[in-house]
Amino acid sequence: IIDQVGAREILDSRGNPTVEVEVLLDDGTLTRAAVPSGASTGEHEAVELRDGGDRYNGKGVTKAVRGVLDELGPAVVGAGLDATEQRLVDQVLIDTDGTPDKGRLGANAILGVSLAVAKAAAQSADLDLYRYVGGPNARILPVPMMNIINGGEHADNGIDFQEFMIAPIGASTFKESLQWGAEVYHALKSVLHKQGLNTALGDEGGFAPDLPGTDAAIAVIGEAVEKAGFKFGTDIAIALDAASTEFFADGLYSLEGKKFSSDDLVPYYEKLVADFPIVSIEDAFAEDDWDGWAAVTTAIGDKVQLVGDDLFVTNPERLAHGIEKGIANALLVKVNQIGTLTETLDAVELAHFSNYKTMMSHRSGETEDTTIADLAVAVGSGQIKTGAPARSERVAKYNQLLRIEEGLGDAARYAGDAAFPRFSA
Ligand code: PGA
Ligand code: ZN
Repeated sequence: IIDQVGAREILDSRGNPTVEVEVLLDDGTLTRAAVPSGASTGEHEAVELRDGGDRYNGKGVTKAVRGVLDELGPAVVGAGLDATEQRLVDQVLIDTDGTPDKGRLGANAILGVSLAVAKAAAQSADLDLYRYVGGPNARILPVPMMNIINGGEHADNGIDFQEFMIAPIGASTFKESLQWGAEVYHALKSVLHKQGLNTALGDEGGFAPDLPGTDAAIAVIGEAVEKAGFKFGTDIAIALDAASTEFFADGLYSLEGKKFSSDDLVPYYEKLVADFPIVSIEDAFAEDDWDGWAAVTTAIGDKVQLVGDDLFVTNPERLAHGIEKGIANALLVKVNQIGTLTETLDAVELAHFSNYKTMMSHRSGETEDTTIADLAVAVGSGQIKTGAPARSERVAKYNQLLRIEEGLGDAARYAGDAAFPRFSA
């Protein structure tokens, strides 16, 4: 039984405030969850409540914290629920807020309670979180999509695409995949250095060199992959997040100094996929450009994974609309886009039932909380993106996956290239 719910304001990896929630059960179990925060947030995400005013440039979360202490906590405790009743707990949270976008009390407040309750239930049952959420068959370790060049809203360079990730699809264990990723990361640093490029980092721990654009960024990664002794394409492939909503305005995409209509952008992606070993592209089109999304899915959806982030915002209703229209073939999963664990699991379930792949994801503003690592294994998504293999708020998740793999022993399976959609040749 949930006995007490506490909350406080802490800092995230960008130095902005975020919500941390603590839950105490009547058996003495005490757990804590911290909430992440995006920069390139989708218009249709659940609402993150910020204080406004001068304090922390308006980004304080004292109102969200008060909402936990004064309303969400008392509602959950008052309902007298067992922590294992996640769906009922999350419904109480949703009803207490009472708005469709969770804007009254804030998705940041609601998610903190939701995740802390799940952790409490797991800990009270003496189970790892991935085991508690995923059951006895949860054993698939995800491919880490490591973001090693940062652009877009996550860096001050001139690269329009937001994320250039390496996917070590040829590794045989998660542990090996992480080693490969770190080796390529260090090789990339020296490749950039030799070319006289900046090796300062962006928000997700990747380098932020001033390269002219997408092709140059992928080329320099290819060089680093080979320098580190791996085969580009078979050992290590590329995954991109264009985050194109950020360079879309008035019906046009502004990319590398040119303006593209939706129709013009399709051949741009066709060429990218033909030129480079790309296994996945996220947000190739903007969040409400359903027609552009449909066109790109028709054109290359049989060759590459197309992931909806700002498009679907982990929202089962938006995902259902996309599935109905045959748009994209994978879902990006961000717990704070929808605001409760239950709704997150519902979105993943819908995706998997509909033959869509799922990629568990961090936000660009993160904390030391590692919940998403466990969730990736729990739902068997086979893919996780949680930044570069550097910076503790990113590495914390990868390190948790090392522990999970070790704990599973012989039962562990590394997803490898089976994580991605199967394409006929
Ligand atoms: P965000 O970026 O956390 O800044 O929204 C991550 C993403 O777009 O996938
Ligand atoms: Zn994205």
